[in-house]
Amino acid sequence: MTGESRSFDVLVIGSGAAGLTAALNLAERFKVAVLAKGGLSEGSTAWAQGGIAAVLEDGDTFESHIEDTMVAGAGLNDRRTVEFVVENAPAAIERLAALGVPFNPGSSDRWHLTREGGHSHRRIVHVDDATGWAVQQALEKAAAANPNITLIPDMAAIDLVTGRNGVRYSGDGHVWGVYAVNRATARVELITARATILATGGAGRTYLYSTAPRGATGDGIAMAWRAGCRVSNMEFMQFHPTCLYNLEVKNFLITEAVRGEGGHLKLPPGVPGGGHRFMPDFDSRAELAPRDIVARAIDHEIKRLGLDYVHLDISHQPPEFVREHFPNIHTKLLGLGIDITRDPIPVVPAQHYTCGGVVVDLKGRTDVPGLYAAGEVTQSGLHGANRLASNSLLECFVFGEAAAGHITRHWDEMPAPPPIRPWDESRVSHSDEEVVVQHNWREIRRFMWDFVGIVRTTKRLERAQHRVALLRQEVEEYYGNFRVTPDLIELRNLVEVADLIVRSALHRKESRGLHYTLDYPDTLPQADDTILAP
Ligand code: FAD
Ligand code: SIN
Repeated sequence: MTGESRSFDVLVIGSGAAGLTAALNLAERFKVAVLAKGGLSEGSTAWAQGGIAAVLEDGDTFESHIEDTMVAGAGLNDRRTVEFVVENAPAAIERLAALGVPFNPGSSDRWHLTREGGHSHRRIVHVDDATGWAVQQALEKAAAANPNITLIPDMAAIDLVTGRNGVRYSGDGHVWGVYAVNRATARVELITARATILATGGAGRTYLYSTAPRGATGDGIAMAWRAGCRVSNMEFMQFHPTCLYNLEVKNFLITEAVRGEGGHLKLPPGVPGGGHRFMPDFDSRAELAPRDIVARAIDHEIKRLGLDYVHLDISHQPPEFVREHFPNIHTKLLGLGIDITRDPIPVVPAQHYTCGGVVVDLKGRTDVPGLYAAGEVTQSGLHGANRLASNSLLECFVFGEAAAGHITRHWDEMPAPPPIRPWDESRVSHSDEEVVVQHNWREIRRFMWDFVGIVRTTKRLERAQHRVALLRQEVEEYYGNFRVTPDLIELRNLVEVADLIVRSALHRKESRGLHYTLDYPDTLPQADDTILAP
């Protein structure tokens, strides 16, 4: 049985900040399709809380934002990329405001700027504590109103269509679109285009505990890898220090801005030193140290004292201030019996952001002609060994636009897709063992959390590698024999991405930024990216 096919000028896979920014920039000239594997607003963008970093007031400078980004990134950042993004940030914010994003106004300056860890200046524009939702809605509204953009939700990309099957990294392949499964019909469709942009977000759900939405399964990283692209710095998985600890609500973030606005991290009562504010014992910047340092300090205290969580306390600020700055967190936690104007919040670190990804240049180009990438799916050189808070939405806007700009300028040199054969399902059957997919999904996330988490050792990484190899065998066999489903696609990608993370972590013989291993606790004098080539 073969599926449908359709064709567009440009195909964007992903409907978050990166994908929609690219689509809106392209739609002036081209017919663009935007795919989402579920609902359009189900990516990380809609969940972003804190805001977007940009130099927006007197007294702050590009140099300072660049420096803060490089310090957080432990020197692994590519300075050209950092400069490119930081210098384009104010214009990106202006464009969002023009699209209707209602950034909170400030008392004297144009917008209220909040502060987050690692920033030496107030420079985060925000919409209360739900910035991402406002951004996603504004971008989606503009895209839906544009006759050149076709939004296609519930269409899960399986694999990129490459020039030759089995082509490996050589630069001579080409991407012509994607095979994707339509959730409504369960049929696989072929969508072709002259240029394809991957904007599929991160891989947080490789871990048991993550602040990221369910769909963050690293599909774009895995697809690009299989299509012949290099993947870099996958060992740098960012753990956010403060995810709500609650047995029912598993992945609710407590924004870094709570610490930025004065929140303290304390040991819970009932243990030696209960109530003690512990961050000053670890770093002179206390709660405002970069995330890797705060997350490791919490992890250390939790393990040292056998705790389930630590406390984040902002109840010393006036209740009105707390309610005004964090209305959504306040309401959400009230529903769980925690009044943050009076009570401390139980928090634990959880996976939050994928710093590594598909290697791109300043135009968003990958190694394979016809394939671009933007946003969390990439390793652009911006984040280095640890992303600075609120720099990632920014990266989506700047690189979404850069990729669109390059495609527009080079359109006439880009060949039209050749005839592509449709997906062939004639030799596969329906699975009667869905339990295998569910079991393996849980298993990956559990051992990645236990063995490839905040503090690593070579032995634990090798254990993880062994398990990945077994799972890969099982999943490949399953994939070869049964009809693809969105769950199976995600499982296959999780195995691929777990493998890339573990291999990258084993490759790095030092501790730097987010990668901390007891076997190599020191930082080497020279900072080098980990680059894996298929
Ligand atoms: P996403 O917004 O994640 O979108 C991914 C898109 O790809 C989705 O549409 C998805 O459906 C689609 N997709 C994925 N796989 C497939 C497939 N196989 N087929 C078809 N479509 C697919 N960053 C900040 O800068 N500031 C913040 O305040 C902030 N807060 C955050 C809070 C939370 C809780 C989280 C989880 C992240 C936060 N981040 C923040 C990080 C930031 O939100 C993300 O890095 C950013 O939104 C990523 O955008 P993106 O466009 O790359 O991907
Ligand atoms: C937060 O609000 O703490 C998240 C900010 C970010 O991930 O950049």
